[in-house]
Amino acid sequence: MKSVAVEVLRYRPETEAEPSFDVFDVPYEDNWMILDAINHIKDQVDGTLSYRWACRMGVCGSCGMMVNGKPVLTCATYVEDVLPGPVRVEPLRGFPVVRDLVTDIQDFMVKLQRVKPWIIREEEKPLAEGEYLQTPEELEDYKQYSMCINCMLCYAACPIYELDPEFIGPAAIALAQRYNLDSRDQGREERMDVLSQHDGMWGCTFVGDCSVVCPKKVDPAGAIQRYKLDATVDWFQSVLMPWRKR
Ligand code: FES
Repeated sequence: MKSVAVEVLRYRPETEAEPSFDVFDVPYEDNWMILDAINHIKDQVDGTLSYRWACRMGVCGSCGMMVNGKPVLTCATYVEDVLPGPVRVEPLRGFPVVRDLVTDIQDFMVKLQRVKPWIIREEEKPLAEGEYLQTPEELEDYKQYSMCINCMLCYAACPIYELDPEFIGPAAIALAQRYNLDSRDQGREERMDVLSQHDGMWGCTFVGDCSVVCPKKVDPAGAIQRYKLDATVDWFQSVLMPWRKR
């Protein structure tokens, strides 16, 4: 078997002043992902290594880490693609470290909730009237944004979030847009109230790294620009046609 040196960040904030790196010589096969290499370390060399993963198929979004300085899903990144090594594995940038490669994602969870990522109805129709139906075109309008798996790679890639942790961030805005564009939803104004605040969408300077790293091609940067356009149209309408509601 071939082998590669893997440098893994180790840190226990409650007992250690600074993080450090452990280097492991990891044997690998052609089809191994970075997550396979980390699992090998945990199973065969050092059982105290801490990290998150669940599905191993790019769906749960829990295995995001920095690999050679880039945010990736480790279950979807081939070892072969980051050679020759050493391969440096670190926790996602921008989030506090709980232990080793595990980050505290509470900040994202709070921000996500602020944009109300669920269908809001001003009035529910009676159950007896059946489902809220959609055309394929209406589905297509928001489908791209519904692919977000909350992996937070976009936050780790975002220079604005790194500089200003108050910034609500790419995934939260993309998910707000997912519901705004849903023909069954009526919560657009409520979300606009949140996203037009100082820590909302206007913080984004359209660097675009969030869309580059997104493993699901959600394009949060595009969602943010579209949202800014909507907000500008809203503002003009409120000035020129205050009686009209969007
Ligand atoms: Fe679920 Fe990687 S383990 S996305």
